[in-house]
Amino acid sequence: MSIEIRRVSGGCGAEIHGVRLDAPLSAEVVAEIRRAYVEHGVVFFRDQRITPEQHLALARSLSDIVVNRFFVPVEGYPEIATVSKGEFDTANIGGDWHTDHSYDQVPAMGSILVARELPAFGGDTLFANLSLAFKTLSPGLQKTLLGLRAVHSAEHVFGRKSRSAKLAEETGKAMFRNADAAAVDAVHPVVIAHPESGEPVLYVNPIFTLRFEGWTDAESKPLLEYLYRHAARPEHTCRFTWRPGSIAMWDNRKTWHNAANDYHGQRRVMHRITLDGCALQAYVDTTATQAQAA
Ligand code: SIN
Repeated sequence: MSIEIRRVSGGCGAEIHGVRLDAPLSAEVVAEIRRAYVEHGVVFFRDQRITPEQHLALARSLSDIVVNRFFVPVEGYPEIATVSKGEFDTANIGGDWHTDHSYDQVPAMGSILVARELPAFGGDTLFANLSLAFKTLSPGLQKTLLGLRAVHSAEHVFGRKSRSAKLAEETGKAMFRNADAAAVDAVHPVVIAHPESGEPVLYVNPIFTLRFEGWTDAESKPLLEYLYRHAARPEHTCRFTWRPGSIAMWDNRKTWHNAANDYHGQRRVMHRITLDGCALQAYVDTTATQAQAA
């Protein structure tokens, strides 16, 4: 089998061709997929018809699985989350820039999303490269960010007082479960060292980050908003249009994603497996330390 990797934009993302995911993968192929995934932040597969069992096998070839405690599981598959929006729903899941599980003490390494039912148009997913976003900041702002940590929370998204909980009360239809499991916040470095490549990555996101540690919300907001605008610049991003048989696999330590909610009145059903990660470490700029010592 010969694998071909084609970049889809200057920002992030690559399509992987020449691999069939409905058959066991050799260690070499898994290693090649993983290299592309770390380098490009998100990889896409086309024309794959995989069963939930094969989806699980693909995930396990890369990592342990971490079950999302808020998402409704696929019937019969507790490790696979349903990401769906029905004809009569207005809100979708993941409809703003975010990193999955940044509210966890040990955030997820990545996610594998498989298209199961698609609208006739719309429902694309956008991705942004947060390593490139950090690299394109000024040295002055980079240096400021290196000393900071940020607080991430799931409470306002999945908790009892969240918009989704209110919507569930109004409609009698719950989008998420386990609201009480959203209570504990997590603190991570604002610039992490990517656990595999070692490169610096900006690790804050509009959905789950509340503030910089030790700063008030009001003090944090202007800088966070600047970083969010900067990271979402078109040259840092790519946009994936789903087709039947499409699969996306993204690195949560390096990218954001954003599910476009532009298909009201139609159904979109996706299956997501989240890959277990490791505790995130702050990036240390050794070139600056060495220059100081010299
Ligand atoms: C997600 O945020 O995991 C969902 C992305 C999508 O549905 O495109």
